[in-house]
Amino acid sequence: MRKLENILVTGGAGFIGSNFIRYVFNNTDFKGKLINFDKLTYAGNAESLADIDKAFGGSRYFFVHGDICIKDDVDAALKKYDIDTIIHFAAESHVDRSIHGPAEFMNTNIMGTFNLLESARSAWSGRSDVLFHHVSTDEVYGSLGDTGYFFETTPYNPRSPYSASKASSDHIVMAYNHTYGLPVTMTNCSNNYGPYQFPEKLIPVMIMNIKDGKKLPVYGDGKNIRDWLYVDDHNSAVWAVVNKGRNGETYNIGGENEWENIKLVNVLCEKMAARLGKEKDHFKSLIDYVKDRPGHDRRYAINCDKLKKELGWKQAFDFDRGLDLTIDWFLSNDQWISRVRSGEYRKWIEKNYGGR
Ligand code: NAD
Ligand code: DAU
Repeated sequence: MRKLENILVTGGAGFIGSNFIRYVFNNTDFKGKLINFDKLTYAGNAESLADIDKAFGGSRYFFVHGDICIKDDVDAALKKYDIDTIIHFAAESHVDRSIHGPAEFMNTNIMGTFNLLESARSAWSGRSDVLFHHVSTDEVYGSLGDTGYFFETTPYNPRSPYSASKASSDHIVMAYNHTYGLPVTMTNCSNNYGPYQFPEKLIPVMIMNIKDGKKLPVYGDGKNIRDWLYVDDHNSAVWAVVNKGRNGETYNIGGENEWENIKLVNVLCEKMAARLGKEKDHFKSLIDYVKDRPGHDRRYAINCDKLKKELGWKQAFDFDRGLDLTIDWFLSNDQWISRVRSGEYRKWIEKNYGGR
């Protein structure tokens, strides 16, 4: 029986992690303590959880400014809060950045995960009421042609520095389960979207650029396909696996919602035109086909029958509603956007894309 009383969430100041923490406090019957352990890189913003901090800070919610690559940071947090469950979101997560500068991806995603596992192994030696849950991606499976799906049994074939670093961490997590008996579960999810997503990923880039009247950079021929899932649906699946998933098992999570990038960008143009009082095709003239991403994976599509059948998970948000919620959020959170787009992010985007 899992204890699930004191949870350490790594990367809880990032996009999915911050939504996860909000989901756990607002949508589940969890009564314990939750510690958000985050380095606050360019992608982390503790302000994303101001509401949770106000409601639960100091009693059930705690923020620790720490680095998963520093063993002392991790050991201290596991001990201080008597952690029985680690839910590991922290990572370098943006494929384009992994192409421009892979070193940090290897360090954080591989060595950081290894470090966490070592700390968990020594803190928990022999216990069976604990859990290390590893959050991973469908990109470890490679790229699909026009047909077919990724299953949990699909052989790994990562093709970018990001996905190779995540694949490595997945293998190390499973090795700790087999070799040392560390209780683990893992999820591999498709593309997320929703509030608080860092505005360097496709959907927020497009919403922000339409709002600012800037060009809409579509890579290559725009026909690459991604399977989109609203972030709360990812998080309800992670919560189901943490509670009921079988030790040592991997569960795929997906939206069953495939879109060519260019079709999605057209939908965003139309939705934004409706919001901003313009005629339907007004923003489509901003679409700009740009140089393709090197090694750009063509198609991702997830089969998540195992999760649905075994744990009874189902999505709550259809794409139309999820996109509306996301657009509304980005149109009414200027302060959050300008904060995260300043500083280190600004420097990186100037250097690699000459602004955007
Ligand atoms: P993100 O880039 O928005 O957030 C990453 C968070 O990790 C940030 O808060 C950052 O400060 C923190 N972090 C980075 N390095 C750290 C370190 N060394 N120590 C502690 N904290 C550190 O990422 P995201 O999009 O929220 O993704 C979260 C996880 O989900 C990642 O593991 C990613 O691989 C996985 N995932 C993402 C998606 C997606 O569509 N975004 C889909 C499937 C899986
Ligand atoms: O599949 C899950 C993965 O989804 C996660 O593991 C990653 O952390 C997450 O970043 C995401 O990776 P992608 O590379 O698929 O996401 P991104 O939003 O960067 O790009 C989505 C698609 O849109 C991809 O085909 C590239 C394209 N694209 C992206 C950007 C930022 C554009 O055409 N123009 C853009 O400006």
